[in-house]
Amino acid sequence: MRILVVGGGGREHALAWKLAASRRVTRLFCLPGNPGMAELGELVPGAAEDVEAVADAAARLKVDLTVVGPEGPLVRGIGEVFAARGLRLFGPGAAGARLEGSKAWARELMTGCGVPGPDFAVFDEPARARDYLLGRSAAPVVVKADGLAAGKGVVVARDAVEALEALKTIMEDRAFGEAGRRVVVEECLEGEEVSVLALVDGASIRQLAPAQDHKRLLDGDRGPNTGGMGAYSPAPVYAPDTARQVQAQILEPVAQELRKRGVAYRGVLYAGLMLTASGPKVLEFNVRFGDPEAQVVLPRLKTDLTELLEAVLEDRLDAVEVEFSRQAAICVVVASPGYPGSYPSGLPISGLERASRVTGVTLFHAGTARDAAGNLVTAGGRVLGVTALGGSLRLAVERAYEAVAYISFPGMHYRRDIARRALVREGEA
Ligand code: AMP
Ligand code: GLY
Repeated sequence: MRILVVGGGGREHALAWKLAASRRVTRLFCLPGNPGMAELGELVPGAAEDVEAVADAAARLKVDLTVVGPEGPLVRGIGEVFAARGLRLFGPGAAGARLEGSKAWARELMTGCGVPGPDFAVFDEPARARDYLLGRSAAPVVVKADGLAAGKGVVVARDAVEALEALKTIMEDRAFGEAGRRVVVEECLEGEEVSVLALVDGASIRQLAPAQDHKRLLDGDRGPNTGGMGAYSPAPVYAPDTARQVQAQILEPVAQELRKRGVAYRGVLYAGLMLTASGPKVLEFNVRFGDPEAQVVLPRLKTDLTELLEAVLEDRLDAVEVEFSRQAAICVVVASPGYPGSYPSGLPISGLERASRVTGVTLFHAGTARDAAGNLVTAGGRVLGVTALGGSLRLAVERAYEAVAYISFPGMHYRRDIARRALVREGEA
């Protein structure tokens, strides 16, 4: 099989790495890919967002299956473009991708099928949103830009002052452009977060191993929200009972509601859940693998990934075995100075070769590039995902941090407490 992976971050490196390990894959192409992915396949220049050009590349390279990493191309309708040209692609069409592309639409759909979530209100007019926020009690609220904002359009506001500030940034200053034409204001849920990635075909929905992300920049879940500073899998907090409840009360109803609305959804459905005192509730849906969740879920997957992706496209998901290793995986993201704000690029990175020799460790590139002399330099906010597998979570943690210690670039920072909560839960910390 000839495969094209679309995107060039840590998630896409993990996808390419897993696909390259399949005996069925004969050629692997990555558009645009990154220096880490260059060691697995052939890089194809281009922009993931330019969906017509991606389809041209897939046709030219005689690709059997294209796997899309990021949400942007899905929301822009890469699924429809490929379908119209008779090209096979893994990922939902634009109609289904609205689950991530419009938070208001997603909330309305969830309400329509009784899926548990926070109380919410949707506003198109800043004045109305302001009145609503002023009329509320002092309780914290979450203000969200409706559209795609690269994970930055969500503000958890402690009080009305912060909420009004967020509203101004999103709706009036248009910090996230058109994504902020509409806002969703939500009740602030409390509990522990878990990321559940599921595969969806025309008839069924199957959960993959659960993971936990670390959204905040600093240890102890302090500081601003980021794209994710690390992850681990499995997530001991997500008990089998909870998984059954999520299947019956969240995943199945949403998949059915999509079908009822005539939306053919084939791909990944990622449910960001809050495990609250009154049960699991949906924070958000994403329509692709999580980043960095993919970097810990895919290394634990024992089943050939191409088999799973094809089963989804052919509506055979209920008949395949989906097997995960009992090993634990953790991913520590090392980030550029200044991230999640603005950051420099072109900083020389050292120590990768030594780090990659630590037992159980795989280095996923996220924001790296080669400079003119061929040296590896930083080229993004999240630079690398240092992933380790281990027979226990504790061992995986030790391995990942041993590897991180070998890596350096000026101003590099990372969280030192990835998976600590699970270790405490296991009574091991
Ligand atoms: P989202 O992009 O919607 O997942 O939001 C990013 C992060 O904001 C989530 O991972 C949560 O940490 C937080 N968040 C979003 N919605 C809520 C909510 N209703 N209550 C509490 N926290 C939330
Ligand atoms: N890790 C959060 C996301 O992929 O959206």
